[in-house]
Amino acid sequence: MIIETRNLRVSFNGVEILRDISIAFDSGVHIVLGRNGAGKTTFLRALANLVRFDGDVLVGGRSVKKMGRREIAMLIGYCWQNPYYGFVEATVEDEIRAITRILGVSGDWRIVELLVPREYMGRDPSTLSGGEAKRVSMASILVADQPIWLLDEPFTYLDRDGVEAVVNLIDYGRRKGKTIIVTLHEIFYANLIKPDTYAIIDGGTIKFFDRWSSLSDEELAKAGLVPRGVICDTLCGPRGLGVQS
Ligand SMILES: Nc1ncnc2c1ncn2[C@@H]1O[C@H](COP(=O)(O)OP(=O)(O)OP(=O)(O)O)[C@@H](O)[C@H]1O
Ligand SMILES: [Mg+2]
Repeated sequence: MIIETRNLRVSFNGVEILRDISIAFDSGVHIVLGRNGAGKTTFLRALANLVRFDGDVLVGGRSVKKMGRREIAMLIGYCWQNPYYGFVEATVEDEIRAITRILGVSGDWRIVELLVPREYMGRDPSTLSGGEAKRVSMASILVADQPIWLLDEPFTYLDRDGVEAVVNLIDYGRRKGKTIIVTLHEIFYANLIKPDTYAIIDGGTIKFFDRWSSLSDEELAKAGLVPRGVICDTLCGPRGLGVQS
């Protein structure tokens, strides 16, 4: 499923945060990079029609402005950067079941298995640790098995096992043919998910959009991001994690 923007613009209190962005994402894994405050979250929120914007966002050729919330929720799984935002239920299990009940879908429980250890199920979501909450919040959205996933900084709070769970989740989504957009403020984790494309938001617009293999340190440096070489020394070096870049 293709999600695309046409001349997307977002302003808050008269300040333009995103300007004139036209970009299309097809099935596969895509990362959107940018320094803190660059507008990554705002971009994802616009894709899900959660902020007021000018221009258009099309999903499968149809404008999100003409869709109701339920229809958008069936198409787009938007996982918040701050995992505690969405919790309303008394237990983790109820939290995860809620979206399937509201949308009237059976869901894909493999997604839950990948993210959430069984022992979390009876817990009160508001008492979860940061990493535990991140896993549960993603599961509580993505269980509905939407064709488009928007993952806003999915690795924050996570330890090694949590990172591995999210990498496996993204891999599972890729194999199911989903269109997956992942925001990151640095490229460390991008090496683990091996995206198809990258985009860099800088100065309110998309400065670069290309195949992942084309990403250069110069582009990263221009956008205020840590160069790839530094990351690769950490990941691939003799004392690193043995990851191939
Ligand atoms: N509702 C709002 N009202 C006013 N300003 C906002 C609002 N939402 C976001 N902003 C501002 O817009 C800019 C972009 O914010 P956004 O959250 O999209 O950045 P980001 O790239 O996701 O940053 P981070 O890496 O820190 O998550 C920031 O300067 C932020 O303070
Ligand atoms: Mg953000």
